[in-house]
Amino acid sequence: MKRVITYGTFDLFHKGHYNILKRAKKYGDYLIVGVTGETYDIGRGKLNVHDSLATRIENVKNTGFADEIIVEEYIGQKIGDIIKYDIDSFVIGDDWKGKFDHLSRYCNVVYLERTKGISSTQIREDRFDQYNIGIVFDSDDNQLTNESKLVNNFCVKNIFCKDEKILDNFQEKYHVENICESYEQLIEYSDIIFVRCSIEQRFDYIIRALNSKKHVIYDPPATFNSEQYKLLLKLAKENNVILIENIKMVYIHIFNQLLWMAQGGFLGEILSINCSVSKNDVNRSNLFYELSTSSILVMLKVMGLDYKKFEYQVTKYKNNIEFATMNFAYPKGYATINVGNKVRVDNQLEIIGTEGTIRMRGDWWRSKNFELHTPNSNDIQVYNTNFEGNGFKYLLKAMLSMLSNNNIRSMGVFEDESIKIVEILEQVSNEIY
Ligand code: CTP
Repeated sequence: MKRVITYGTFDLFHKGHYNILKRAKKYGDYLIVGVTGETYDIGRGKLNVHDSLATRIENVKNTGFADEIIVEEYIGQKIGDIIKYDIDSFVIGDDWKGKFDHLSRYCNVVYLERTKGISSTQIREDRFDQYNIGIVFDSDDNQLTNESKLVNNFCVKNIFCKDEKILDNFQEKYHVENICESYEQLIEYSDIIFVRCSIEQRFDYIIRALNSKKHVIYDPPATFNSEQYKLLLKLAKENNVILIENIKMVYIHIFNQLLWMAQGGFLGEILSINCSVSKNDVNRSNLFYELSTSSILVMLKVMGLDYKKFEYQVTKYKNNIEFATMNFAYPKGYATINVGNKVRVDNQLEIIGTEGTIRMRGDWWRSKNFELHTPNSNDIQVYNTNFEGNGFKYLLKAMLSMLSNNNIRSMGVFEDESIKIVEILEQVSNEIY
C-alpha cells in the first residue's frame, strides 16, 4: 500500500485545496493530511488565518479524500511524520517548489501545479473589511508599516508629519500610499490612527481622533494627567472605538506563560520583583516615562494594584540623561524598578517567589524566553516561544479580534491597570516639573 502525505493551512477552504487533495490521493492508496495548528501558524508569523483548526479539519474531512488527518504543530515535524507514518510520497503545491527537496532523503517529493486564480489570501481580501491605518509621527522610527502587511485586513495607507525632513526619511523607507497635508485629513482618510509622537502632543492627537470616532493605537503614556486619561477612556467608550496602547509584550505567548506561572502559584508567594530597563541610543527627553510603563504593568499584573507605599527618585542630567528608581512596598512583597535613559543598566526582569524565581534577561519586554529557577533543583528550566518581527502584528491580531467581536476592551492591558500607570507617572511628573 502506497502512503502519501500532504500539508496545508486549508483556510477558507477553496477549489485549489480540493484539487490538490484529490490529486494527492491519486499518488497512492492512503492519504494523510497535515493541517497546521494555531500555535504553529502564530509562531511562524502567519496571523491571517480566519477559520479555527476544528473548521479547517472538518473541511478537509468533508472532501472524503483524507484517510487520516493530523495536526502540524512545530517546524521540523514533517521528517518525523514521514518516518512515523512510513510515507512513500510527500505531495505539495508548486508554490513551494524546491523548498522541500531535502525530504527526498526520506521519500519521493512531488510538487503539483497549483490551481490558478484562487488562494485563501485572495478570498480574505475580497471577503473581509479592510482597515486603513494612518500614522501621525515625529520620528521615522516606525514599527508598524512592515508588520501590518502580515496581518489580514490592515494596511498603513496614510501618514502625517509636520517635519518635512522626517517625513522624507520615512517615505524613503516605507513608501506609504498617501501623505496627508493636515492631521484632519489623516483622520478623515483612516479608520485607525496610530499616534507616535512625543508625550506633549499625544493627548491632543488622541482626543481629536476619538472625537471623530476613529480607533486609536498610541505609545503610552497618553498623558501624565489621570483626569485627562479618564476623559479619553470615556470618549472611546461613548464613541464605541478602541483605544489601545502600543505595549506588544502582552500579546505574545511567552509573556502570558510567565504571568500564568507568577499568578498561578508556581512560584509560591511572590516576594519581590526587580526590573530594569534602559535605552542608550535614543536622544529623546522624558523617554524614561515611556520605558517605565512596561515595568509598572508587569508589577501591577503580578503583585496587584494595591501597594501600600511608593517612593521614587528621578535624576536628570544634561543631554537627556535620566535615571529613575521606583520602589513599591506591598503588604507581603516589594518591587523595584530602575529606568535609565542613556544610562547603562543591565536590562532584566526577575520575579522572586518562595518556591521559585523567574528571570528574563536582556530586553525582556521583547524576549522570547524566560528561566525558571527552583530552590530544590540545580536545573534551570527554560521556557521558549517563537515569534517573528517586533511583535506588532500580534497586537494587530488582538485588535482584529476586538473589531470583529465588536468589543472595544483590550484583553492585554486592563483599564484599571492603564489608569494606575498614568496615576503613578503623574505623581512622578508633578514633582519634577
Ligand atoms: N494550493 C493549490 N492551489 C491553490 C491554492 C493552494 O494547489 N490555488 C495548495 C498549496 O500549494 C498547498 C495546499 O493547497 O499544497 C494548501 O495550501 P494553503 O497554503 O493552505 O492555501 P493557500 O490558498 O495557498 O493559502 P494562503 O493564501 O494563505 O497562502
